Formats: sequence, structure tokens, C-alpha cells
Amino acid sequence: MPEKAKVVLAYSGGLDTSVAVRWIQEQYGMDVIALTVDLGAQEDLEEARQRALEVGALKALVVDAREIFVQYFVWPALQAGALYEGAYPLATALGRPLIVKLLVDTARQHGAEAVAHGCTGKGNDQVRFDVGIKTLEPDLRIIAPAREWGMSRQEEIRYARKHGIQVDVTTKSPYSTDENLWGRSIECGRLEDPWEEPPEDAFLWTRNPADAPAEPEYVEIGFETGIPRSLNGEDMDGPDLVARLNEMAGRHGVGRIDHVENRLVGIKSREVYEAPAAVVLHTAHRALEGLTMTRRALRFKERVAQQYADLVYDGLWYSAFHQDLLGYILSSQRAVMGRVKMKLFRGQATKAGVESPLSLYSKALATYETGDQFDHKAALGFISLHGLPTQVQARAQLSALSSVEVRSRIVPPEVQPE
Ligand code: ARG
Repeated sequence: MPEKAKVVLAYSGGLDTSVAVRWIQEQYGMDVIALTVDLGAQEDLEEARQRALEVGALKALVVDAREIFVQYFVWPALQAGALYEGAYPLATALGRPLIVKLLVDTARQHGAEAVAHGCTGKGNDQVRFDVGIKTLEPDLRIIAPAREWGMSRQEEIRYARKHGIQVDVTTKSPYSTDENLWGRSIECGRLEDPWEEPPEDAFLWTRNPADAPAEPEYVEIGFETGIPRSLNGEDMDGPDLVARLNEMAGRHGVGRIDHVENRLVGIKSREVYEAPAAVVLHTAHRALEGLTMTRRALRFKERVAQQYADLVYDGLWYSAFHQDLLGYILSSQRAVMGRVKMKLFRGQATKAGVESPLSLYSKALATYETGDQFDHKAALGFISLHGLPTQVQARAQLSALSSVEVRSRIVPPEVQPE
């Protein structure tokens, strides 16, 4: 018998990808190799592996990619300060290009001619998968069962039952979720109404701030080149550090994010996230940048951060533009080292203190007390040159253009003292 063509499927262990195993066999007559990638989701991956075999996969592989995930994806995003639309730390978006890379590698290793993923035709993830795959290995065929099969949820469940695939509808959460070390993404169900406050059952990693401990907890984070290396003085590797902070900050209700988000495919969507470690680390990282980078560098970095977040969100991880931006980001982090003391309390993570051997803060220049070294006389000369163009312009133009509507918005009316 000739060998069947093979496809490597990104397999999560959930209903969609389990049905996908059987569906691909039926529709495409291919053998399915299930690949489950461990990015630090708190799920039983051995169970997922067994399930893949039960539903008919030829092989079921599990890859522990936590270390690579943090080192190659999470840390650069943190160094960049990447928060999509100022809110979303990009957990799901950062995980996709790594899964893509592992799919492509596995396809090569096993001589597969196609790869498959469980994304629907509505979200960002299908874009991230497809663009990533086409960039890394243009000759691979892409199969996306959930985008192709056109089954409703009910039909999918019927299909599963018919093929002896176990469906766990009662315990199934009303939400669609995705998680990895950097955060948990939650959508659907009651969250689809932006007026409705996220119900408590949407959250798994964070305590309700109202039930969080009555005492604050302090945690000290040590950074080198913008990368966290220690917690409370103890050196830790990336995955441990992030997992530890998720737990610590989650206990204090830190890291809940509620965002009406602009999807790449043009839809506005209500998304809820839990990202305790990401929220703490971004806040701490920004505080340390504030101490060690100049004003001009900080202003520019904000723009880079936004570009970087959009690029990651938009599935362009493997683009040349990414290399260019990352080049700047890495260079900008040379001096971002030191310690940040963070206070975790009732849903908030705030900076309590910051310190760096490369600090640009000079008490001698800043102080209003004795020991002031700032040259007050130099301020006079500075002010006259700094204000000169505005002064010249006011004399030449302001009164002549007084009919211009906007002027009355800038110059308040004259007030008579009583
Ligand atoms: N909106 C987020 C993003 O595009 C999260 C997507 C989460 N996916 C999911 N299946 N729940 O990155």
C-alpha cells in the first residue's frame, strides 16, 4: 500500500482540533501528526497526547517550548514595551509564530506536505498562522478545518459523537480561551456585550481584587538589558520567573484587562485578558527605562513600542521590518539595568522604588535642598533662546491673525480683577 500523505496539525487537545484530526482524514485522506506545543499553559499535555492518538492521529508529539518562548518572544516584546492599543500584552499573538516555526520544522522532519491549524475564519490567529507558514515554508499546503468545514457548534458536536470523539459539553466553559506563560485570552459568551462587566467565572489566574489580601506584597525585580533576571534577589530562569510572578500578582488581583480591540480582520471585539506577570513586568520595565534613558530616547521608544505591538499583533513576526525594529530595541536596552520594587495590592501593581547603577537621575541636580548643583543662571539664557521664536512670532503675527477662530481657544479672554 502506498504511504499516505502527511499533515502536521497544531493540536490543543480541545474539541475543535480533535474533530479536525478525523475531519482531515476523511476529507483529505491524509495521515495526521498531532503536535502539541507547551508554552506554559496550565494544561495536562500528556492527556492531550493520549487524546490525539485516541481520535486517530498517526503520531502525537509534545514539545516543551517554554524556554524558547520566553527568550525569543516574550523578552523582546517586554523590551519593546509592546502593548497592543496600550492594553494587551500580546500573549496569544506572541505564541503563534513559535507554533508556526515548530509546525514547519516538524513537517520537514517527518516529510509532511501540509500543516494544519484549528483557527476559524474570523480571528487574527488564522492570519498569524498562514502568513508565518507562507513566510517560512512557502511550499507547504495549509489546511484550516474550522475555516473550511462550515459546521455550527451543534453540527460539530454531532460529528464528534458520530465518530466516537468524546465531547465534554457540561464542563465546557462558555468562553473561548487561549493561554500561555505570558497571559490568558478570554472571549465569547457574555463577554460579547461590552456593557456587561466580565463575570467572575471568566477569570482563572487572578483573584477578584475585592477578595485579595488586605496587606500589600512587595516584590523586587532585577533587570539586565531590559530583561528580568531575578525576583527578590534570587536569580531565576525566564519561565520560572514569569510563572512565579503570575501566581504572586494573580493572588493580589493584578493583571485583569478588559479591552474593546481592533482586530486585524476589521472587527471590533471585546477581549478580556489575565496577564499578571506581564502587567507587573511592563510597569517595572517602564519605570527602569524612565530612570536610565533620556527624554528624547523615551519619546522615540514609545513610537517604536506601538509599531512593534502592531507588527506582532498583525502576524508579521518573520518580516524584515521586524529585524529593523528589533535592532533598535535591543540597542536601546543597553543601560536598562537595575532593580524595581513593585507593590502588589488589590488589583494594582505600582512602582514603589527604582534604582540603577546607570541611573540618569542626579539628586545634586534635582534637589531643592542644600547641595544643589544646578546652574540657575544658565536657566535664564536657556529660557530666552527657547522662547525666542514664539516671541518673534507673537509680535509679527498673533494680533494680525486675531480673527482666526482657533486663536480664541488658545488665548483666554481678558479678566478684570474685582
Ligand atoms: N484577541 C487576541 C489576539 O488576537 C486573543 C485571541 C485569543 N484566541 C482565542 N482562541 N481565544 O491575539
